Amino acid sequence: MTTASAPGKIILFGEHAVVSGATALGGAIDLRASVSVQDRPGGVVVSTDDLMLKGFSLDLQSGRLFSSQATHAVRYISAVLREFGAHDVEVRIDSSLPASAGLGSSAAIVVAAVLAISSHQGSSLSLKEIAALSFRLEREVQEGLASPTDTALATYGGYLKISSQISPLDLPPLDLVVGYTGVPHSTRSEVEKVQKLKKKYPELIDGIFQAIGTISDRAQPLMVDQNKAELGELMNINHGLLEAIGVGSRELCELVYASRGAGEAMGAKITGAGGGGCMIAIPGPTGEEPLITAIRQAGGRPFATTMGQEGVRLEMEA
Ligand code: MEV
Repeated sequence: MTTASAPGKIILFGEHAVVSGATALGGAIDLRASVSVQDRPGGVVVSTDDLMLKGFSLDLQSGRLFSSQATHAVRYISAVLREFGAHDVEVRIDSSLPASAGLGSSAAIVVAAVLAISSHQGSSLSLKEIAALSFRLEREVQEGLASPTDTALATYGGYLKISSQISPLDLPPLDLVVGYTGVPHSTRSEVEKVQKLKKKYPELIDGIFQAIGTISDRAQPLMVDQNKAELGELMNINHGLLEAIGVGSRELCELVYASRGAGEAMGAKITGAGGGGCMIAIPGPTGEEPLITAIRQAGGRPFATTMGQEGVRLEMEA
């Protein structure tokens, strides 16, 4: 059996503006998806029974969300299997990343599958090849609307600066608390909505995108210096700009304000496409406990994470 795992991601600054060429800053987190492949003569089987985020009480009782998550994952695996002409195999997916939450779960699954299936066939792809192929496959399944950000972060890990090209950044780990609204979202429809707004009000939205790009650029030296107070301020400004382009929601805002208030966060913002999904906050001097409590009391599902984690890797072979 060959098993590979890849991390999910968080966008710290720059979402949406990056689609139009501004700089974004993202990092890999410590929740991962793993894909195992073993021989199974006579057919191809894809199985999964663990697509929930550990520690979350995602409402999967109805089975609807679960089956949509599973179907979602299987489409990506099928694309990878087709690409490698793989047959007579059984593929198993385990993920601690919730789907459609802005944490890069589909990219993590595709990247882990590319490494697991290619290694199982005896080929050894470079990280560059894994990132390029995974991006192409994710884009195919999503019918053209995917940026290379998520697949690059799942492949390389650490931190990346994304603009016209993607470059690694050598930055220290950053502790964050993530709040999941429990509301799944579609990156595709949020991106389409924002791009439509940009077409209607180019002179306004271009200015907002430029400001968001400036925030990403200013954030990098602050990350190096671990200047959490100013990073928090930039998060608050970036959140306001994301609200301005229409990707906020009541649930997201409630978690953001609870984090800044009772949670004593240094700053808080939407992460990812918005409309649902997750927000992030930098813990204040009192630490992550009040933040976790505040997010939970505001109806969110909190978890602490450290950014800058390892990218795709082969796990022990059995
Ligand atoms: C989603 O995580 C970030 C967006 O900027 C879309 C993308 O870059 O693919 C909204």
